[in-house]
Amino acid sequence: MQKDTILAMKRIISPSMLSADFGNLERDTKMLEQSSAEWIHIDVMDGVFVPNISFGFPVMKPIRKATTKVLDVHLMIVHPELYVKRFVEAGADYVTFHYEATDDIDGCIDAIRKAGAKVGISIKPATEADVLKDILPKVDMVLVMSVEPGFGGQSFIVSSLAKISRLAEMRKEQGLEFLIEVDGGISAKNSGAVFNAGAEVLVAGSAVFGAEDPEGEIVKMLQS
Ligand code: DX5
Ligand code: ZN
Repeated sequence: MQKDTILAMKRIISPSMLSADFGNLERDTKMLEQSSAEWIHIDVMDGVFVPNISFGFPVMKPIRKATTKVLDVHLMIVHPELYVKRFVEAGADYVTFHYEATDDIDGCIDAIRKAGAKVGISIKPATEADVLKDILPKVDMVLVMSVEPGFGGQSFIVSSLAKISRLAEMRKEQGLEFLIEVDGGISAKNSGAVFNAGAEVLVAGSAVFGAEDPEGEIVKMLQS
């Protein structure tokens, strides 16, 4: 089977803890532990790279304790290379940093690998996929932001679909196997289109935690 055919069969939902109840992190994490979501997404914001502040290492601890799922940490912070090791020590399986957040992309990639986690790189809505051309062979995942990073509950930017397709095309051209993850404004209404554009991992915050039946919503997205 061709590599891109195998990738096309992969569908993962990564619910974002940004929309969880912070007073009941253990309960909400255990709910996800029982769900069809294979990953859990952790949004770290510093108030500098994005105009919002979320949480850091101490808050990851109860989440890591309550689950064996893949912890997918999305760093929306400046100078990510200074902190990646501590996020891996706190239990991150994937550490994703922003292309726009550092001048030392190679150093950041090396720091994540050296700490023992998989490497993700993310681009904001205004950043073209092609800037990543030479970086793609060095990463395990590309995260396409389909809203401006900083807040949950925003609307999906439709032009992200073309960016996802372009990345899938570059992946094929270069014979690579990195995952494509998409984050922002995802629900069962658009998940089918996002998977079909070439993504394997969909982040969903408000759609999962705002649903009366989170597991039902996750299954709907997986089957869309
Ligand atoms: C936004 C975060 C997202 C956010 C997604 O900056 O990176 O992960 O939690 O939330 P929804 O799914 O509600 O758009
Ligand atoms: Zn995120």
